[in-house]
Amino acid sequence: MKKRFLILVTACLLLSYYPVSAQTEPLISPRPLAIQMEKGSFRLDASTQIIASKQLKTEADYLKTKLQTSAGLTLSVNNASPTGKNKLALLVDAKQLPEFGKEGYQLIVNTGGIKITAADKAGLFYGMQSLLQLINQGDNKLEIPLLTIKDKPRFSWRALMLDEGRHFKGEKAVKQLLDDMAMLKMNVFHWHLTDDQGWRIEIKKYPELTKVGSKRKDSQTAWRSEKREGQPHEGFYTQAQIKNIVQYAAERHITVVPEIEMPGHASAAIASYPWLGTTGEKIEVPVTFGKFKDTYNVADPKVYTFLEDVLTEVMALFPSKVIHIGGDEVLYDQWKASPQVKALMVKENLKTPADVQIWFTNKISKFIASKGRRMMGWNEIMGGKVHEFTDDKETAAKEKLDQGTIVHFWKGTTEMVTDAASKGYDVVNSYHIYTYLDYDYKEIPIRKAYEFNPIPEGLDPKYDKHVLGLGCQMWGEFIPTEASMQAMIYPRLAAYAEVGWTDLSRKDYTYFKNTMKLIENHWKAEGIQVESADYDALAK
Ligand code: ACM
Repeated sequence: MKKRFLILVTACLLLSYYPVSAQTEPLISPRPLAIQMEKGSFRLDASTQIIASKQLKTEADYLKTKLQTSAGLTLSVNNASPTGKNKLALLVDAKQLPEFGKEGYQLIVNTGGIKITAADKAGLFYGMQSLLQLINQGDNKLEIPLLTIKDKPRFSWRALMLDEGRHFKGEKAVKQLLDDMAMLKMNVFHWHLTDDQGWRIEIKKYPELTKVGSKRKDSQTAWRSEKREGQPHEGFYTQAQIKNIVQYAAERHITVVPEIEMPGHASAAIASYPWLGTTGEKIEVPVTFGKFKDTYNVADPKVYTFLEDVLTEVMALFPSKVIHIGGDEVLYDQWKASPQVKALMVKENLKTPADVQIWFTNKISKFIASKGRRMMGWNEIMGGKVHEFTDDKETAAKEKLDQGTIVHFWKGTTEMVTDAASKGYDVVNSYHIYTYLDYDYKEIPIRKAYEFNPIPEGLDPKYDKHVLGLGCQMWGEFIPTEASMQAMIYPRLAAYAEVGWTDLSRKDYTYFKNTMKLIENHWKAEGIQVESADYDALAK
């Protein structure tokens, strides 16, 4: 019995070490759903023609440029389909591959050429990303093995969040991230544009937000440290720049979801317009990081006018259906001390500060919904004990969050995800111990990032559909430079991309590690600061 068990274990180990397809399956990140290999190859050369209808001109031009830069190949684009071989055909047809959804695709390489088919331009774009990765491997880059790839994502929400409230990075850094997200088939850029330490988006009706709120005198250099950078920090995006970035992202099938923090993490706004705050006192944009007591005065109608005006300008800039309003880490001290908020609680029959927050959040949610959009917020917007520092009595809530809201889980127990999903809320899972890119590689090694499962254990499979996917979050307190930011993001970004895209049945860490040799080379050639972290390290 013991011997048989040993043989079984050895066989399993050998099999997992030498996956049957490992020698032949090309390396694509994130790993596709199905790759069927044939014998032989097709050689792309300067006479290969890209065939695409006029409606696919943007996609064809994108592929042409990428082939020029990555393979030194200049192909012509033709919209008629010539007879003969040596074609790279792009086809979008809603009737094709209905089971693969908008983001799925099929990529066929045969002796006559290459054909990428999808039901939607998004799927075509992802097929092109797989092709670009197929080209960039092996000694002979342009010799592509004959194969059929059928692919679609596991989740519809595959996000990277960048916090620029803390340290502004600027357009070039953001576009670089968008390029790398596109390569990895990530589709949501969650842009954290306001926080205590900085307001980074031009709002025409309230110019002080950027005149005052985008600047601070100094910056703390580490948690609980008295050390400061010793220089002022500032920066914001004009509305023209925002439009340009949103367009750049759209060309890469990435939706930009803006986050405008409320009712907490609002010091920069309150420094700009002190009447927004619960105390009405004048404050400065903080130079330290952490949680701050300054909170919007949720009992003042003028504050709602302000927030609605801001959101109106935001919604004009961002076509995203989803608008994120933050809602995390609200400290209740100022509300508890405010006669106006106390009166509001009596008038609206709100029993706890969490009820006040939910009541406020629902007002904002209704406003956003009235414009045809959908609100999203960090999971504190449901009430409940999320933090050690809160009092159970204050976080207990009888108010109910609007049903259409997306709950962005980051902290608390995973039962909170189960609870929200089983009550019918859509959830994006950004559980901090797995997905926070500001945590170092000891806390979240690459392997741990890769192993994250957005569907929590214990969730009845009938609610799986409510888990839209995951976000990974690059919080900005202690990443003052682009290089320090990149070292935290790369290479873990690829692990999160695979969590979002690859079917569980296809996840294989050995395959992932092999793929990463190519991906890392690509990043390094782009001049990106890639952390040389140990792929086999386990969490401390
Ligand atoms: C958060 O990390 N405060 C959402």
